[in-house]
Amino acid sequence: MTRTALFVLLLLIGNAIFAQKTLRTIHSPGKQTSVSVGLNKQGEIFYRIGYRNRPAMDWSRMGIVAKGYDFSTGFKLDGTSTLLHDETWKPVWGEVARIRDHYRELEYRLQNAAGNRMTIRFRVYNEGVGFRYEFPEQQGLNTLVVNDERTEFQMTGDHTAWWIPGDYGSNEHVYSTTKVSAIDCAHYERERNISTKNIVHAKNVQTPISMKMADGTHIALAEAALVDFGALHLEADPAKLKFKAFLIPSVDPGIKSKNSVPFHTPWRAVLLSPDAAGLLESKLILNLNEPCKIEDVSWIKPQKYVGVWWEMHVGLASWDYEGTQNAAFNTGARHGANTENVRRYLDFAAKYGFDGVLVEGWNVGWKNWYGQWSDEVFDFTKPYPDYDVEALSQYAREKGVRIIMHHETSSAVPSYERQMDAAYAYMNKYGMNAVKTGYVGKIIPRGELHDGQWMANHYLRVAERTAKNRIMVNMHESVRPSGLHRTWPNWLACEAARGQEFNAWSPGNPPEHECILPFTRILGGPMDYTPGIFETRMSTYDPKKKEVVHTTVAKQLALYVTLYSPLQMAADLPENYEKRLDVFQFIRDVPVDWDDTRVLHAAIGDHITTARRQKGTDNWFVGSITDENPREVTVALDFLKPGKTYEATLYADGEGAHWETNPYPVAISKRSVRRGDVLNIKLAAGGGCAVSLIDSRRP
Ligand code: NOJ
Ligand code: CA
Repeated sequence: MTRTALFVLLLLIGNAIFAQKTLRTIHSPGKQTSVSVGLNKQGEIFYRIGYRNRPAMDWSRMGIVAKGYDFSTGFKLDGTSTLLHDETWKPVWGEVARIRDHYRELEYRLQNAAGNRMTIRFRVYNEGVGFRYEFPEQQGLNTLVVNDERTEFQMTGDHTAWWIPGDYGSNEHVYSTTKVSAIDCAHYERERNISTKNIVHAKNVQTPISMKMADGTHIALAEAALVDFGALHLEADPAKLKFKAFLIPSVDPGIKSKNSVPFHTPWRAVLLSPDAAGLLESKLILNLNEPCKIEDVSWIKPQKYVGVWWEMHVGLASWDYEGTQNAAFNTGARHGANTENVRRYLDFAAKYGFDGVLVEGWNVGWKNWYGQWSDEVFDFTKPYPDYDVEALSQYAREKGVRIIMHHETSSAVPSYERQMDAAYAYMNKYGMNAVKTGYVGKIIPRGELHDGQWMANHYLRVAERTAKNRIMVNMHESVRPSGLHRTWPNWLACEAARGQEFNAWSPGNPPEHECILPFTRILGGPMDYTPGIFETRMSTYDPKKKEVVHTTVAKQLALYVTLYSPLQMAADLPENYEKRLDVFQFIRDVPVDWDDTRVLHAAIGDHITTARRQKGTDNWFVGSITDENPREVTVALDFLKPGKTYEATLYADGEGAHWETNPYPVAISKRSVRRGDVLNIKLAAGGGCAVSLIDSRRP
């Protein structure tokens, strides 16, 4: 029997368990994807997903369990309606200039014997499915105390999965690659470098999670528009190859969220693609989010920045002025955020064309910040005595550079919320229009969690409040993004994954890490990964240190293209860049806003090659990266504009380059190319290649 015939047979058997009159099937506009939904005899809800004439997900349960109300059983179908939606919208910034939002929608309305109503809304796209639960206004049901979400995702085989553990307090883990049947988080207990690690269930994993099926089809499970709910994790059932929704709890572990009716949950998203590249090109998560809520977006600017930052992470400087910094971070090192040092960074930024200079450690409080539950530690309007905010903001203005504000909250959230208005007014007064926030440590109010409902609402409040003050925001240690930057495009990026900093003071990120991030964490939105490290060995700063960045220098350049973000840091020290200005040129040239993106080759965990066209020009930039294996990559320049000549500059791994033994060599070469030409690129072990393709007739 062919797989298609088997699929049809299974569909018929599956249908038999449902009351036929409740079964509905809808197809995506191009018919690639289908969703069927129905009720069994007990009035329980099941759905399944088909993709390209094969099952992509088998019959899986749905429903929400709330205190006093079970919205997962006892239902009768109350009616359905469908519609076709086709609209094209323009993001304020992004990987492409236009996005098509094209789906067929099914509204599946349910009612139980007590008269309680719930609607499930499905949106079926050619590249996947979104659905959410909606609770319309109804007699007697004013507040929903959600205890559990019953949604299941029944896989059709033992797929290869890329995942991190379902940690309540952190997403800063190294990825695992296993079969679904082998998911087990036990070894993550050995992780020592995450301060808020909180892994409660050995089989829970975070979303987004991506999987590859035996036939090469890729499936990712994610969420979109996380508003007023706990973040979506998944409880794996390795024996049954199944995942069940697991919501991050509140301070009371039984209460996952509390909502006022009418209410709807965030979208649950299933991304589908015939190959890995398609996952990276999918706009499903963005499409499931609400349009931009900011009327005047003229002040929102994708940007590159440098900062008083890496010098703290490598141990040359301290955040703390008093020199009493917790031993975990460089007791005794000089205070980095001093007026003279910041001037040096402002000069550097102005000279090489960077928009911003991040300054960490400028405000009082750092001597008490590290550890757990550090409350009322920071003052966001009070600089240290050696930081002349007046003089520096004046100097920045003269240089045409913006100082980027830093608000490390130490996770003392009520304290931060009380200070927010004053803090943003202070920024406006001194000409700062971007802030990096941070949430190191356990959350205050005590018992709340980084990814729970209370905090999800806080991050959103910060996005809204900064927008009101015309401020862009970059959040560290926040919940991972779910596409909300469509609605709040001032929310440029989040960290919310294991960033570059881990390479400075921990066993770090393995060479495959950056080949996994775009397929998992970054599916939900841009990451402030902070690429661009040229001096990869920490022994340079302290002979006792053994930490290294697991990369070649050429790969650091390629990351500016392969890890999409409208906010990119050149993270290394100015003096390291000034030693290699020829290599640094690529970081100066690479843009952060694009009209078009093509993922040319990709395999999760192995390699990625991406080409992007600079906003408003015909220039293209290519980044190619590999894991610990060397590779040869062919880049067909089919995307270049016909009839034009381009000057291509290649920044490739030089002779003998190797992430472990010889990270430094970069071979820079130039040539003239046209559409149809081919670049043959050699990537070293742990290496990469960056290419700029500049339209020669550019004015
Ligand atoms: C952790 C952040 O990820 C990092 O970028 C920052 O420097 C420190 N916290 C201090 O706030
Ligand atoms: Ca961090």
